[in-house]
Amino acid sequence: MTSYQGLEPGARMRVLHVCAEVYPLLKTGGLADVTGALAPAQRRQGCDVRLLLPGFPAILEGIRDRQRVAQLPPSFGADVVRLYHGFLPDSGIAVYVIDAPQLYGRPGNPYADANQQPYADNYRRFALLGWVAARLTQGLDSFWQPQVVHSHDWHAGLAPAYIRAAEQSSGRRTAGTVFTVHNLAYQGRFSRHMFGDVDLPWRFFDIEGVEFHGDWSFMKAGLFYADRITTVSPTYATEIQRQEQGCGLDGLLQSRAHDLHGILNGVDETVWNPATDPLIAARYSTRLGTGKSACKLALQRETGLTAQSDAPLFSVVSRLTEQKGLHLVLSALPGILQRGGQLVLLGSGDSALESAFLAMAEAHPRSVAVVLGYDEQMSHRVIAGCDVILVPSRFEPCGLTQLYGLRYGTLPLVRRVGGLADTVVDSSLENLADGRATGFVFDSFDDEALGAAVRRAFALYGRKAEWRQAQKQAMQQKFAWADAATRFTSLYGQIAV
Ligand code: ADP
Ligand code: GLC
Repeated sequence: MTSYQGLEPGARMRVLHVCAEVYPLLKTGGLADVTGALAPAQRRQGCDVRLLLPGFPAILEGIRDRQRVAQLPPSFGADVVRLYHGFLPDSGIAVYVIDAPQLYGRPGNPYADANQQPYADNYRRFALLGWVAARLTQGLDSFWQPQVVHSHDWHAGLAPAYIRAAEQSSGRRTAGTVFTVHNLAYQGRFSRHMFGDVDLPWRFFDIEGVEFHGDWSFMKAGLFYADRITTVSPTYATEIQRQEQGCGLDGLLQSRAHDLHGILNGVDETVWNPATDPLIAARYSTRLGTGKSACKLALQRETGLTAQSDAPLFSVVSRLTEQKGLHLVLSALPGILQRGGQLVLLGSGDSALESAFLAMAEAHPRSVAVVLGYDEQMSHRVIAGCDVILVPSRFEPCGLTQLYGLRYGTLPLVRRVGGLADTVVDSSLENLADGRATGFVFDSFDDEALGAAVRRAFALYGRKAEWRQAQKQAMQQKFAWADAATRFTSLYGQIAV
């Protein structure tokens, strides 16, 4: 077993990922899949990689071999702050966890209360995360100091700011910093009067700093102070430099264009592989055999749909939010049903969308199944059992469900935006002829465009050999975490201390 003291044998670069979620312990979206898979991929390439996480109950309870590293003074409104070290289950990746019960000891969603309201003290909860990251670069754990601190999304956005502040006061560089934007729309923006509580110099409260329209923003801190910025697909890296998707930060992102890289997420083959997946009714490879149809039949039975092998089965596995464009699916649904298709939706979020989909399921119980909630195991059964996965997003930094769809021979039907544009090849006549097609792609964010793509999906479904060819092509796509890990290693090489 790896000891937390000292370096792992043969290890090279020491990298600390700072993040709020990690699969399999705590997940609200794709961020957790990424942090849970990138670290093992980097370790396989010889990196000495560790994670720093807030001590939410699921994380404190889930780590193995917990040992105390340090006791910190009361900070950010928490009387007790301790740093633990342990290991993730399954991957065995080393993690530091901040135990601060007053800030993190709240079950359920890590960001919001039972009424979906963001916690009022979120600025202190996530300031502590960034602050501890900076302390780790200064020897908080005397056995291990990162050479690179890689922060993810707004929750970890203050880490590069604290590191810069400490470096300015000591006159000594301690670590290179990378900040990855998984979603620019969630910014961690707070009022000016809260800034005094987070122990950053007031000179940082500046347009050349964390200040954002009179408030201050964790996201902006990450974008401003990190040595390098990445985001999760090449197309999104370009989109966020324009006003339409820049969320007010496009100017800053343009000014940092040379430091900004789009590095596509991957698929964790230990979790998402139809040939080995223990969560699905039958396993299958590119040849499909009877495996995929067995998964479809099992899903139809499980969800109460008519068990009909030749009914095109569409799916949605998603947070039900504005970002995901699911009102377009509601509009397309009558057309899907009229052509003899079916829909399974697994998701939760916006209550108006939840009710609208539920009403469709009540009206058409043999053709529409709606499962509200978050169910990791069921997400595998849905993605394996369907013919098409719908991802008609308004914007999509990368998107993972379309990648899982491709892997499982479930053709993605997506809008040409962000990572969706980078990963799905439309079944146009030319692409079909060239054997490149892997799904269906539409452009305009409107009912008509999605409706036309759905009609094309039905048309291709009727041509079995071509459908089969697209499935095969989809399943053969490689979205390897090793490729992303290699790109990060070369970035780290430019900035490591
Ligand atoms: P985002 O992070 O914007 O939600 P992604 O496509 O990157 O979008 O990642 C979503 C992740 O969350 C995927 O792993 C997907 O399978 C999972 N997911 C989304 N909704 C559900 C749900 N209701 N139940 C189980 N898993 C879900
Ligand atoms: C965000 C984005 C999603 C991306 C995920 C992981 O949640 O919305 O597109 O796949 O992060 O990077």
